[in-house]
This record gives sequence, C-alpha cells and structure tokens, in this order.
Amino acid sequence: MAIRDVLRMGDPRLLEVSAPVTSFGTPQLKQLIADMLDTMQHLSGAGLAAPQIGIPLRVVMFGVAHNPRYPDAEDVPFTVLINPVLTPVGEMLQEGWEGCLSVPGMRGLVPRWLELRYSGKDPDGNPIERSARDFHARVVQHEVDHLDGILYPRRIRDLTKFGFTPELFPGEDLPDD
Ligand code: NI
Repeated sequence: MAIRDVLRMGDPRLLEVSAPVTSFGTPQLKQLIADMLDTMQHLSGAGLAAPQIGIPLRVVMFGVAHNPRYPDAEDVPFTVLINPVLTPVGEMLQEGWEGCLSVPGMRGLVPRWLELRYSGKDPDGNPIERSARDFHARVVQHEVDHLDGILYPRRIRDLTKFGFTPELFPGEDLPDD
C-alpha cells in the first residue's frame, strides 16, 4: 500500500477516457484499490478515481463520514465502484459546490442530476446497484466524470462561481486543498 501522487488539472492524463476493468479479484486490482484508499484518506478526499493517480481504468471510490472538506455533507457509504453506469432519475438538476483533489485549493458551483441510479461491480466482480440523491448522487457523478476525462470546472455554468476556497468561503475555515 502506498500514498500516490495525485495528478493535477493540466496533466493530459486527466483528459483521457479510461478503459473498463476486465479481470476482477486480481492482485493488481487489489493493489490499485489499496493505493487509492491510502491516497484518498491521506488527503481527506470524498472520492478518488483511478486516473487521478495515473491509472486509466474505470475504478472509482467514494465515501463521506464527517469529512472536514465537506462539513455539511450527509454521510455517503464507502464504496468501490468499477465499470460504473449512471442512470438519471427524473430531470431535476441541482447546483452544489464541489472541490477536487486534482484542482487543489478551489471550489466551483456545479449542476448535477439530483437523483440517479448507479450500477457496476465491486472489486470481486459482484454487482452493485443503488439509488442515490443529493450529495451522494453528486459525488458519484463527479467521480465517474473522471473516467471520461472530465474535471468539474468544465461543468460550471457561471464562472463567477469558481475560485479559491478561502476567498469564496471567508471565515468558514475549510481546508484549502
Ligand atoms: Ni475529482
């Protein structure tokens, strides 16, 4: 297990479309997931996608339990999701603030589907199927976007709602990474 460097916006590897995982339960996949978990926890991230550590595979993880980066967020169960498929439920979009370990120090207001279903596999190849809404749905959409080479700033509609965390939220003492 190891803490890996997280690629930052501007690195062309973050713009690639990642490939599906074809073998489950392998030592290589377990190693990747262990490294992602170490890295995400070290940086207090709400989620991480494999391409953020330079591995172009469709693997994401997310989970929120009193995360200091998102002090008002509801808990999201820790999940490793492989080859994810998202299906919006309804047509409602919701704007919400997001940050990203690949865009350190910044936040932006991003529209996302309010509610969706997601499916995929766990690390052993067992199916995952869930419904999610609000922050849980937002985190999943943000992470899956990474697999298609999309960073959240590209989704911002009003670029006056994009900036450095301490300037956007003075006095709130949010972590600035
Ligand atoms: Ni991100």
